[in-house]
Amino acid sequence: LRPLLIDCDPGIDDMVALLLACASPEVELLGVSTVAGNVGGELTARNALDVLALAGRSDVPVAVGADRPLVVEGLRGHRGAHGDTGLGGARLPRSPSRPVGGHAVPFLAEMIESSERPVTLVAVGPLTNVALLFALFPDVAARLDRLVVMGGAVGRGNITPAAEFNVWADPEAAYRVLSAPGLPRRVPTTMVGLDVTLRTLIGPADADGLRAAGGAGALVADAIAEYVHGAPDGGGVPMHDAVAVAEAVRPGILDCRPARIDVDHGFGPERGRTVVDLDGAEVSVAVGADCPAVVRFVLDRIVR
Ligand code: BDR
Ligand code: CA
Repeated sequence: LRPLLIDCDPGIDDMVALLLACASPEVELLGVSTVAGNVGGELTARNALDVLALAGRSDVPVAVGADRPLVVEGLRGHRGAHGDTGLGGARLPRSPSRPVGGHAVPFLAEMIESSERPVTLVAVGPLTNVALLFALFPDVAARLDRLVVMGGAVGRGNITPAAEFNVWADPEAAYRVLSAPGLPRRVPTTMVGLDVTLRTLIGPADADGLRAAGGAGALVADAIAEYVHGAPDGGGVPMHDAVAVAEAVRPGILDCRPARIDVDHGFGPERGRTVVDLDGAEVSVAVGADCPAVVRFVLDRIVR
């Protein structure tokens, strides 16, 4: 079993990502940290707890992390695509569990340090917590086996023409994690961006299947029914974060290429853009996949 940590901001697709991790026998979910993103900090933690309870994993600790980006308060007042609660149209049973005490960043460090085997960290929200982890605990972070990030794009953005939401929400943090040489040894890092995630869609027939399955599947169907960010052509709802977890659970399910990433953290119209150089080799970037197969992989596990 590969030990896994997930840093997230649930978030409809974060919900799908958490459910996938809980349903995957290849990994052991050690803990979840939350960050302000799709909704504010307290709400993302509440949602993570409720999703874990739904999956029968109330034993997984949840820690609340950064409530604002490192430098610019750009998120404040952002009206997200995930509805007021963050989980779209889903009304989950309230878990009686509470987040663990203390901030998510030392929590992540403690989890990484105390794990007998090297940990994979999957980051599917703004990268604030991960940047702080790298800054405050560089030696611990260097022990990570792998970092898989849902964020950025080789091509067009989704929140602006240049920027993908998670990078746009904290470009300075994304710069530190994806571009800056901040670690004694660079953690093997994979960026899973919009180029793949916008093609990995839960289509109308998939949603019908989820609803018919009942349980967690039906709640995912409820959630996505109110997801504002459908695919550009109306063909379905992107599973963004679950695609990153799929790559962590089954390495190689995505077609990844060596690359170098720069993150625009200036204050012009390109703020939050990931500039991907496929001639570089510092990180890897997902450039393709058998997208329908990835969708099946994720949904089959969730309804099981
Ligand atoms: C990313 O932004 C968020 O809205 C989603 O949860 C995902 O992590 C996609 O751009
Ligand atoms: Ca997310």
